[in-house]
Amino acid sequence: MMGLFKRIFSRTKKIQGEVLVTGGTGFIGSHTVVDLLESGFSVVIVDNLENSSEKVLDRIEEIVGEKAFEKLTFYEADIRDEEALTSIFDAHDIKNVIHFAGLKAVGESVEKPLEYYDNNIAGTCTLCKVMGNAGCKSIIFSSSSTVYGDPDTLPLTEESPKKPATNPYGWTKWMIEQILTDLYTADPEWDVVLLRYFNPIGAHVSGLIGEDPKGIPNNLVPYIAQTAVGKRDKVHVFGDDYATPDGTGIRDYIHVVDLAAGHVAALQWMQGHTGVEIFNLGTGSGSSVLEVIKAFQTASGQEIPYVIEERRAGDIAQNFADATKAEKILGWKAEKTLEDMVRDSWNWQSKNPEGLEG
Ligand code: NAD
Ligand code: UFG
Repeated sequence: MMGLFKRIFSRTKKIQGEVLVTGGTGFIGSHTVVDLLESGFSVVIVDNLENSSEKVLDRIEEIVGEKAFEKLTFYEADIRDEEALTSIFDAHDIKNVIHFAGLKAVGESVEKPLEYYDNNIAGTCTLCKVMGNAGCKSIIFSSSSTVYGDPDTLPLTEESPKKPATNPYGWTKWMIEQILTDLYTADPEWDVVLLRYFNPIGAHVSGLIGEDPKGIPNNLVPYIAQTAVGKRDKVHVFGDDYATPDGTGIRDYIHVVDLAAGHVAALQWMQGHTGVEIFNLGTGSGSSVLEVIKAFQTASGQEIPYVIEERRAGDIAQNFADATKAEKILGWKAEKTLEDMVRDSWNWQSKNPEGLEG
């Protein structure tokens, strides 16, 4: 058992209707926890801090205030630790789980497939086993547009075919979607929501929480942000010979605060529901690598040098979502523009140039 009960802020007795957030100190998890607390939910975070810092908790308190923060309990624990998870479910009245915890670096997953399959897949199986034993059968899972692979047609709807993954990380998303679907087939009391995120960027408008990658960032916007702040020399643009207007890759970037709101909307919608439902969480429009660099340059007032390199293995030319299902059913729609996203990324990066541990 890893550091269980290390830091308990508030409750020791059973409380009604708590939401367990696995990976709740991570990038998307922390923004979702803020929204949940501000929406009045009681939240239990389980995170092993493998890719995040406990300092995020102080930042969350600063954002939501002392009163809302009293509704948060944090456990440093691993989702693969069945004993620890069981004690957490025993100590709380958890009605719903939002499951972010997992490893997410595509390149690293190719080098360390077993770590990815163990953490993401075995971790999810252990979590679901403990949930089932505790009679909690409601889960929202962080999936990814990576399950669509290289699309035949755009925009991508939830009915667009899943394609074979090109790396172990992608396979874990693909397989966990299948595992959760099979769980519902075996026991129709389960309520599963699969949220397929497009490309989350941005940060809380306060600049107190944001994306804090360890080492060299794999993703475009953290790399641009570190270049703008002087930690990296230049951005490496992976290919300018794609069949897109400026030749660089196009993605559907979505503000992490909008993404967080999508989870709260899904949570509210799923109460009393059973089944498996899939939602794309994107804006519905794409931006190219060069457009993102330009927008960041404008927002930050910093020059962002870049160099064109070879295409990155496994990358696709473009993807973007049809996000109308989430709007129709959940009443959720992304509101923020690319300018909002890069402004908030810059605000976070310039206020925390070394991240939270720096
Ligand atoms: P993140 O790394 O910032 O957050 C994940 C959190 O999970 C971290 O705090 C980490 O410490 C924790 N964690 C990892 N393994 C754990 C374990 N075994 N037990 C307990 N905690 C564990 O990543 P993020 O960007 O916030 O992503 C959250 C989820 O969304 C992940 O499942 C990711 O695959 C998925 N997703 C992310 C993106 C993206 O671009 N950020 C896109 C699509 C899907
Ligand atoms: N890119 C660069 N230079 C970089 C990093 C990225 O030019 O240093 C380009 C890529 O080639 C791509 C675009 O910027 O065209 C976006 O790349 P990211 O790595 O930021 O994002 P991806 O679309 O490759 O991957 C993201 C998530 C994955 C998820 C995938 C599909 O990181 O977890 O979206 O949803 F699986």
